[in-house]
Amino acid sequence: MLKPFPVHSETGLGFITMLRSVLRPGVILGGRRTPLNPHGRTICLSGREKAGTLAFSLRKFTQTRGSGVMIFRQLFDRDSCTYTYLLADPDTKEAVLVDPVIELAERDAKLVDQMGLNLIYVMNTHMHADHITGTGLLKKLVPSCQSVISKESGAMADVHVEHGEVVKFGEQELEVRQTPGHTNGCVTYVCHGEKFALTGDALLVRGCGRTDFQEGSAETLYESVHSQILSLPDDFALYPAHDYVGHTVTSVAEEKEFNPRLTKSKEEFIDLMNNLGLAYPRKIDISLPANKVCGLYNLP
Ligand SMILES: [Fe+2]
Repeated sequence: MLKPFPVHSETGLGFITMLRSVLRPGVILGGRRTPLNPHGRTICLSGREKAGTLAFSLRKFTQTRGSGVMIFRQLFDRDSCTYTYLLADPDTKEAVLVDPVIELAERDAKLVDQMGLNLIYVMNTHMHADHITGTGLLKKLVPSCQSVISKESGAMADVHVEHGEVVKFGEQELEVRQTPGHTNGCVTYVCHGEKFALTGDALLVRGCGRTDFQEGSAETLYESVHSQILSLPDDFALYPAHDYVGHTVTSVAEEKEFNPRLTKSKEEFIDLMNNLGLAYPRKIDISLPANKVCGLYNLP
């Protein structure tokens, strides 16, 4: 028996989340562990019979952290400066992709295949405005995987997650924390076991997502980041959905000390965010309609 998830004592959601786990089997809540629909699926891709040997040799070269058990890859799209994360359990080979980009979906599917992984979820931190998600194309390339996004995003998906729920792949877990402000539906995925969080656009390295469209709110973002991300232990690593100057990762301690926006008072932050004068996002008019349907829009 694994120990209860520690987070809900902070939010007071323990009872509610336990109740939800009964009402919504398939989603882990409050530490009652029911895998999120793996259904024992297998994906039939070429080279699978070699998966055991291949995964063993690749593991030596795989970037890992914390206890060193989770397979972790940070992938990059040079056009939109988006980071996509491939996370997997080294024993069961169950894997998730977070924030894929449509132009690079084939790269991601190929990597999953080469590493002998079983992709079970393709997840998004929010409905993006700057690129079309690779979720829809990945579902065509790896038909047995399921799409995941927050209920509040308003986007279509196989699984809609809510605050406090836990996504499980193998023995690995990601807690869903609602972090609205950049958009209404933004979530941060927190891995307590490996001490890191995928912050989407809520928190970037020395920055944060803009709050001037998609129901953005500077006040909400400030509260989200401070209550849900910077409240994590100082040594948690934070991985953003984008970086425009070459950073790849930061930590709670670093952002609490050096983030030029979020170290300000709430009033100063709101004033700053409301006067950034940013240009209209280049791809928003094609990205939002497509991302509402998980990037399946106009796919052949
Ligand atoms: Fe975004």
